[in-house]
Amino acid sequence: MKVSVSFLTSDNAPRDLKLLNETDCDYIHVDVMDGKFVKNKTMPFSEMKNIYKYTDKRLDVHLMCADPEKYIHKYASLNTEYITIHVEINEDINKLIKLIKSYSIKVGLSIKPNTNIRDIIPYLPYIDLILVMSVEPGEGGQTFITSSEEKVKEIRKLFEEYNLNDIVINIDGGVNDDTIKYCRDCDMVTAGSYILEGDNYQKNIDSLR
Ligand code: DX5
Ligand code: ZN
Repeated sequence: MKVSVSFLTSDNAPRDLKLLNETDCDYIHVDVMDGKFVKNKTMPFSEMKNIYKYTDKRLDVHLMCADPEKYIHKYASLNTEYITIHVEINEDINKLIKLIKSYSIKVGLSIKPNTNIRDIIPYLPYIDLILVMSVEPGEGGQTFITSSEEKVKEIRKLFEEYNLNDIVINIDGGVNDDTIKYCRDCDMVTAGSYILEGDNYQKNIDSLR
């Protein structure tokens, strides 16, 4: 199981990113919130970009943004492996997928807990990752929605139906050493508050592998 670590709930991002750099976590998950697609707003890119000097890990960028285009241009300039946009936005998703790919960055598409998985079908041939939200996007430290397990199984069925086998399924929100039992059909989990609690981040990561 790959593990991507969100530092959204961190009260000292430079310290936590340095500590996470010493672990074997696969990615740093970067939550970007615009105050429109979700209520909260993260710090501007001009500040955000400075904290990445504290890590050599590749970034997995989650754009919770109604109009992601300008964020794609900005986050593409960092050490970014994935940029994920939401399927629910009222923008031209195909155009945004092409824009992400033009930077040779892998494309993720995220779905909120109440979104029908059939909405992702038109984009399946063009994406590298599906980010299944197991909480409502917008803040860290929420409770895992257990029906997400079933959603992941349905996505796997879609993959079979459309003969796709190289899309990564990542799940985001409320993942801990208990709720990991609902994530066994995923390839990757994103966890924030659980990893950052206590002082042994590596041990917490190990418990999700
Ligand atoms: C929720 C974010 C998640 C979240 C993960 O809106 O997309 O990445 O911060 O944090 P935990 O693991 O605390 O739910
Ligand atoms: Zn996220």
